[in-house]
Amino acid sequence: MLKFAALLSLASLIPAFVEAASPVWGQCGGQGWTGDTTCASGSTCVVSNPYYSQCLPSSSNPTTTANPTTANPTTTVRPTTTSAGGGGSSSSVPQPTTTPDASNPFVGYQIYLSPYYASEVQAAAAQITDSTLKAKAASVANIPTFTWFDVIAKTSQLGTYLADADAKAKASGQKYLVQIVVYDLPDRDCAALASNGEFSIADNGLNNYKNYIDQLVAQIKKYPNVRVVAVIEPDSLANLVTNLNVAKCAGAQQAYQAGVTYAMQQLNAVGVYMYLDAGHAGWLGWPANLTPAAQLFSNLYKSAGSPKFVRGLATNVANYNALSAATPDKVTQGNPNYDEIHYINALAPVLASEGFPAHFIVDQGRSGQQGIRDQWGDWCNVVNAGFGTRPTTNTGSSLVDAIVWVKPGGECDGTSNTSAVRYDAHCGLNDAAKPAPEAGTWFQSYFETLVKNASPSL
Ligand code: BGC
Repeated sequence: MLKFAALLSLASLIPAFVEAASPVWGQCGGQGWTGDTTCASGSTCVVSNPYYSQCLPSSSNPTTTANPTTANPTTTVRPTTTSAGGGGSSSSVPQPTTTPDASNPFVGYQIYLSPYYASEVQAAAAQITDSTLKAKAASVANIPTFTWFDVIAKTSQLGTYLADADAKAKASGQKYLVQIVVYDLPDRDCAALASNGEFSIADNGLNNYKNYIDQLVAQIKKYPNVRVVAVIEPDSLANLVTNLNVAKCAGAQQAYQAGVTYAMQQLNAVGVYMYLDAGHAGWLGWPANLTPAAQLFSNLYKSAGSPKFVRGLATNVANYNALSAATPDKVTQGNPNYDEIHYINALAPVLASEGFPAHFIVDQGRSGQQGIRDQWGDWCNVVNAGFGTRPTTNTGSSLVDAIVWVKPGGECDGTSNTSAVRYDAHCGLNDAAKPAPEAGTWFQSYFETLVKNASPSL
């Protein structure tokens, strides 16, 4: 005890030397964090979300430096005239000045590689000693993924990416497309805990969300020559189809609908091709869920004024299902729609009959291995997953515009730390990889497994 006290007093005498900074990619802040809030040289502490700040290499820093002990970035909220109920295309809704391509928006475009993901992957590859695995890991940096705008603080980064894509387009004579995920609804992730967001409905959340959308719009407006494709709000509408028995989802219903409507209308006005998130085969693909799902999507789409740039739906985001499974995975038993193409083929006609002629994109980023889940509903860092089919417009279906990688493989789904505020029991299941860091942050061992198990191999 005495020894300990002596050490303590010694430490207080030489603070500058004993105060170790967090390493690059290490945690440096967030609710409940008591460790170091400074970062190793060459990196900066950046708020990932209210629960986690991370030391990012200064070159890839996606946001302005944030105070790691304050959870929420300050936002300026602009009053809005759009109706909050999700209904009605009021006269204040801006309209696009261009007409969308009637055909597949991915065709003829070079997909912009997210510098942020590339830097994560490069740092990950640098940690691998086996030279074959290292080379395979490094090659992932050349595969396009979506960039998630999961906090308002990241929105300014979009302008940097668009400017870069614009410059690349000019230099190469090719047309460029930037892929983003719009992901900041108030009371986000209402049926789970792992990805709870920064805005609360009770605390001006819907207006904060509209401001977040306005920030994205302001950047996009500046680069009319760069095409933007967006996945809108993973899990949100699917939760409204099946999880209204969860109090937080019931409470979020109106805000989700109003938020998604606002996103559709504002992003439509600046020509963003949109796909609303539609869960996956094991969620809305159950026969009993198809019609309610189609009705919700179609009604929202129509009440938003059938925005021309809303191209359709995105499925399997951050999930593990095959687009087309050779044989049904055992966990899919009882559902004739045992893979994404069966789900899409079943859903599309119902949507069309409801007035929403939707096309689809399908996330296959982590779908390389099947038969890895104990239950179909398991979603958190599933053990033994592998990178899947590479992004392509060669999808084998006229309904499917593209196979895409929406979830940046290697970024975590949720923490396995049972005492964390955002601990979700799914992340503690037997088929969930552990120990896992906070959602959205880098999970090195999981990335290495994805590389090893990639199918087709890297
Ligand atoms: C996390 C986000 C992250 C996204 C992509 C989600 O589960 O909540 O913070 O950006 O995954 O990795």
